[in-house]
Amino acid sequence: MTSSSTRADRLVPTALIALTLVPALGGAVRLADLAGGEATPESARFFAAPLPVVLHIVSAVLYCLVGAFQFAPGFRRRNPGRHRALGRVLVPAGLVMGLSGLWMTLFYPYPEGDGDLLAAFRLVFGAATVLAIVLGLTAIRRRDVVRHRAWMIRGYAIAQGAGTQALVTSAWVVLVGPAAGLTRTLLLGAGWVINVAVAEWLVRRRRSGSARTAGVTGRRSGAPQEVGRRF
Ligand code: HEM
Repeated sequence: MTSSSTRADRLVPTALIALTLVPALGGAVRLADLAGGEATPESARFFAAPLPVVLHIVSAVLYCLVGAFQFAPGFRRRNPGRHRALGRVLVPAGLVMGLSGLWMTLFYPYPEGDGDLLAAFRLVFGAATVLAIVLGLTAIRRRDVVRHRAWMIRGYAIAQGAGTQALVTSAWVVLVGPAAGLTRTLLLGAGWVINVAVAEWLVRRRRSGSARTAGVTGRRSGAPQEVGRRF
């Protein structure tokens, strides 16, 4: 039990950080280009209005990298104070990430190959991340740990859609061929859908586990036991 939870403590953040590496690298390249490069037709929108993309990259990379540790079970249990302190940094970072993504979707001109469907995906999933983080925060302020966990998993999973999109698109390029236009849009959408499905599976798996534990120990299942439950 202890060794499997120690293994999970290492594996969960390592896997989540690995998933962030490709978009984080893309972000570093974009920031370096904005700092010292010249605008091209491909990057003109970023040079014309750099603030949202800079805020987006910095907050998204911080949220995904540091957020990875919040999901290591032993870290939360052993360091509840640190989990709370990181949460106070991660909530604003996640909100800035989502809101700046929405801002760019609404106000940047579409780059070549992007269209209304991709914009719709970005609006839906960007708004869903913001909503999930707000619901996760309001849940913990009511000391409802079960709902806090569920909403924070959902919000983080949508953010990590950026990493899954890189994996899905790379696999497509290697196995099938170039990904442009509608194909690229559907692959980006698939990255978000996969992560939402995994998040729902994790949320439901834990809920059914809790219900079984409550049954075995003879406790009534329901809000009073769930509220304030240990992480
Ligand atoms: C809710 C999730 C997210 C939404 C809705 C979103 C949305 C967007 C939008 C609309 C753009 C501008 C696209 C363009 O005009 O080409 C963008 C750019 C970018 N995003 Fe996100 N994003 C999200 C999460 C993330 C995450 C988690 C990361 C990294 C860990 C990330 C990294 C980037 C980078 C590096 C760019 C600049 C792309 C470039 O240089 O061409 N995003 N994002």
